[in-house]
Amino acid sequence: MKSTAARKASGKPFELLLDQRIIHRRIEELGRQITADYAGQIPVLIGVLKGCVIFMADLVREIKLPVEVEFVSAASYRKGIRREDDVILGGGISIPLEGRHVLLVEGVVDSGRTVSTVLQRLRKLEPASVEVVTLLDKPGSHRTKLDVKYKGFSVGNEFVIGFGLDNTQQYRNLPFIGRLLDR
Ligand code: IMP
Ligand code: MG
Repeated sequence: MKSTAARKASGKPFELLLDQRIIHRRIEELGRQITADYAGQIPVLIGVLKGCVIFMADLVREIKLPVEVEFVSAASYRKGIRREDDVILGGGISIPLEGRHVLLVEGVVDSGRTVSTVLQRLRKLEPASVEVVTLLDKPGSHRTKLDVKYKGFSVGNEFVIGFGLDNTQQYRNLPFIGRLLDR
């Protein structure tokens, strides 16, 4: 581990929040739970880009079922500053979702607006079921009523980076989750 000062040299200072071993073990548990809950099914995992990518890659390998994978893109932050209004969605869903069991995969749920917006869009495609799986949840920050069935960890109202999550597009490649010290 580098010192805080050393980390600051390559960007904003941060501290370790969740290490790789803890994250890996939790993803194994989520994979076991999903494998049991969807036994006999072929779920469609839809990742919300870009924050989902590392989590998605690990999670699919812990689900011992045939799965299909799709992505949508969503942006609710600009230059690291929270946008209170709309969530911009992109990406097309090429897999027909009618009658399918869908799992929406997120890196972090904060206000819940991104996931709610994507859920609204997915429900129009008449899937048999839709559940949300997120690596991190900030339950104290939700601004919309949201049912997150599978969550890796709950965190407080802090800005987290790494394991796919960014601050102004950087830090996604950190193999652990850190907490920014000055937001
Ligand atoms: P929400 O729409 O407020 O729930 O925000 C979800 C999106 O905001 C996520 O997909 C992330 O891109 C981003 N986000 C929210 N909190 C954090 C954080 O702590 N670190 C990095 N990105 C975040
Ligand atoms: Mg972001």
